[in-house]
Amino acid sequence: MPVHIETSRAMDFDNKVVIITGASAGIGAETAIAFAKHSAKVVLVGRNEEALNTNASKCEEVKGIQPLIVKAELTNDEDVKRVISTTIEKFGRIDVLVNNAGVGICGSIREGIEPFDRAINTNVRPAYLLTSLATPYLVQSKGNIVNVSSIAAFKPIKDVDFLPYCMSKAALDQFTRCLALELGKDGVRVNSVNPGGTKTNFVEACGISKDEKEELFKVREQSFPLRKMAKSEEVADLILYLASDRASSITGSTFVIDNGEMLL
Ligand SMILES: NC(=O)c1ccc[n+]([C@@H]2O[C@H](COP(=O)([O-])OP(=O)(O)OC[C@H]3O[C@@H](n4cnc5c(N)ncnc54)[C@H](OP(=O)(O)O)[C@@H]3O)[C@@H](O)[C@H]2O)c1
Repeated sequence: MPVHIETSRAMDFDNKVVIITGASAGIGAETAIAFAKHSAKVVLVGRNEEALNTNASKCEEVKGIQPLIVKAELTNDEDVKRVISTTIEKFGRIDVLVNNAGVGICGSIREGIEPFDRAINTNVRPAYLLTSLATPYLVQSKGNIVNVSSIAAFKPIKDVDFLPYCMSKAALDQFTRCLALELGKDGVRVNSVNPGGTKTNFVEACGISKDEKEELFKVREQSFPLRKMAKSEEVADLILYLASDRASSITGSTFVIDNGEMLL
């Protein structure tokens, strides 16, 4: 008897346009490749042009679909607006927005307001503005949004002054929930992915050198319940699933991927 395969719920992004911020490195770069493998037209957003070009070539190699690169400093509103206008000019639609760009900003309460402003201006404000500008197109396509948050949204991180970062990611999760409620009636889903320690250059933004980073990874791996850290590709797989039709009943949710770090 022939086997019927349900294609409408497949992880297929044929002709779908997916914007990924922070696609020049780490989780965002692997997310772009994952979507490209599933036939999406990807829009790679970031600041490092060389890294964006390298990743765009990797994306194009998979299925021969040329990605759009938008070099953008996301703390600059004009650059954020250009992400949407260039995407519409080139592809005419938006199906998925992955708000992934972010930095680890340390700072104790004793350092005053500057680290807080930096955390909000980088990790929250661009996602809000970009989403606001993308919403009419997402409503049209009945698309969805995946915000890349962190387990730092749920709990303070021991031994680091991570207050501004934790607050910024908690804000992002509440953005996910409020937005899911607001856009649900329009058929637009919104979810968060909340990684724990993941092997990327993320910690370098906190002033940790490459050598120190390897040492830190070893120590952290030994402390996690599963004795390992996540790879960017694993986080990318979760983002891809949430953005796909297989997750059509999932909205307003936060998904932890952390090798058990939350249990510590
Ligand atoms: N790695 C972890 O352990 C971990 C854990 C939990 C959550 N996360 C979250 O995962 C997301 C991705 O981080 P990652 O680990 O992949 O770090 P990463 O390797 O340092 O990548 C960060 C990306 O964000 C982009 N970016 C940062 N600030 C930007 C700005 N102002 N304008 C435009 N692009 C900007 C970077 O672009 P350029 O390089 O081009 O400047 C880069 O592509 C972040 O939101 C982070 O908070 C990471």
